[in-house]
Amino acid sequence: MTGAPRLSVVVLAAGRGVRMRSALPKVLHPAAGRPLVDRPLLAARALLAEAGGGPLVVVVGAGREAVEAHLAAAFPDAVPVVQDPPLGTGDAARVALGATAGAREVVVLAGDVPLLPVSALSRLRAALAAEASNAVALLTAVVPDAGAYGRVIRGADGAVLRIVEAKDATPAERAVRELNSGIYAFDGAFLAGALPHLTSDNAQGEYYLTDVVALAVGAGRRVVAVPVDDPAEVLGVNSRSELADVDSRLRRRAAEAAMAAGATLVRPETITLDETVVLEPDSVVEPFATLSGETRVGSGTRIGQGCVVSDSSLGRNVTVRPYCVIEKARVADGAVVGPFARLREGTDLGEGVHVGNFVETKKARLAKGAKANHLTYLGDATVGERTNVGAGVITCNYDGYAKHRTEIGAGVFVGSDVQLVAPVRVGDGAVIGAGTTVTKDVPADALATSRTPQKTLEDGGRRYRERRAGARAKGD
Ligand code: UD1
Ligand code: MG
Repeated sequence: MTGAPRLSVVVLAAGRGVRMRSALPKVLHPAAGRPLVDRPLLAARALLAEAGGGPLVVVVGAGREAVEAHLAAAFPDAVPVVQDPPLGTGDAARVALGATAGAREVVVLAGDVPLLPVSALSRLRAALAAEASNAVALLTAVVPDAGAYGRVIRGADGAVLRIVEAKDATPAERAVRELNSGIYAFDGAFLAGALPHLTSDNAQGEYYLTDVVALAVGAGRRVVAVPVDDPAEVLGVNSRSELADVDSRLRRRAAEAAMAAGATLVRPETITLDETVVLEPDSVVEPFATLSGETRVGSGTRIGQGCVVSDSSLGRNVTVRPYCVIEKARVADGAVVGPFARLREGTDLGEGVHVGNFVETKKARLAKGAKANHLTYLGDATVGERTNVGAGVITCNYDGYAKHRTEIGAGVFVGSDVQLVAPVRVGDGAVIGAGTTVTKDVPADALATSRTPQKTLEDGGRRYRERRAGARAKGD
């Protein structure tokens, strides 16, 4: 079979994932910020790169529109094949085989086993290749209780004879502590010959890929079991509880990696990190912070306690005080944010900007050195360099139908409790008095106020109190 690739990797991802009780296909459930299926796919890619290339096949079925869309976006090198309806892992492998281009070796990965290192797969391939009589190598793990996993049944001489699913096992078989990881390396020609012989005569009425093991033994071929170093490497996700377990293991790994790379995590067990987050050396993250998505934190930057930061880029030496929510924002070097600030999508804070407590920003660009320290809403706005935005300032950006922009120049002083009714512009160096409602553009260096005149009644306060005291005495 000249021209056939040496290796093809098949990822099984068509199962319904019934035990998740979810509208989302199981393999798209995220763990540490990435869909489950990404990890076996990344491992498959690395393995194929090691082998000099070959088809990467993904079997899709349940929820396949969503799975295919994800593959197209994140793994355009993968070839999706459709298994509809999903009739079991053996049926999935049969469907995949057509896309493996007659590869001499086929590695099968489960889309729901995300923690597996590539090194384990390299060992698996080496085990298969060790003897010409080997038809299958499978990764196994020895655990105190193999739960719902398939059991590896060995003969008196220790040779692997077959795999029995937990649901089909006798009590004696259930007591076996060696579990099947669902990850295999097959002699391609053997697999192609064996798959048509599978039956669905079992507790689940499915075509089990695991039955290929007994077929190999029956045909006089050998099956090698390769135990993993740590049973956690082959944890499968079939329920929300197993998802939570895998998620926290991955996050712990991400935290360890961040610390190894020079970040300080204060009480790391309380910090939630996606593995996509990058923390530069000498950044500090305080307890109970959550950092997710494409977030980058520069050197010397401190993320305060309880902050929630997603898809944002923070420069160097930024201080984010406790309890800020930052989403799709960019914050330049030396800025100071919070406590209790909310930076929404499209916020862009320049160098040294201060955004203080109870300030909300959205699509707002604050230039170098600008300040908005207290109780303010800046939406669809630009604020020039060194401009000071006083307490309680609001950009009135929405008229009930459309959003409008507010443009404030450099070196402007916006007094407290000012409303800027957009669209409106304030020129460089302008001063806006406290309490002003700005409805018209303010030219550079102008002073704008819109106050009603103050009325003061001499002695009025004392007379008011007397009136109230009299009313109380009468029992009102
Ligand atoms: C499977 C193995 C079991 C092993 C366990 C390890 C079989 C029969 N059993 O059980 O021995 O201990 O994995 O995690 O293989 N899938 C399809 N099409 C289908 C059915 C499943 O693509 O028709 C995919 C699923 O999306 C999943 C993978 O195959 O990614 C495994 O299927 P799942 O139903 O989770 O099998 P387990 O019961 O975990
Ligand atoms: Mg499973």
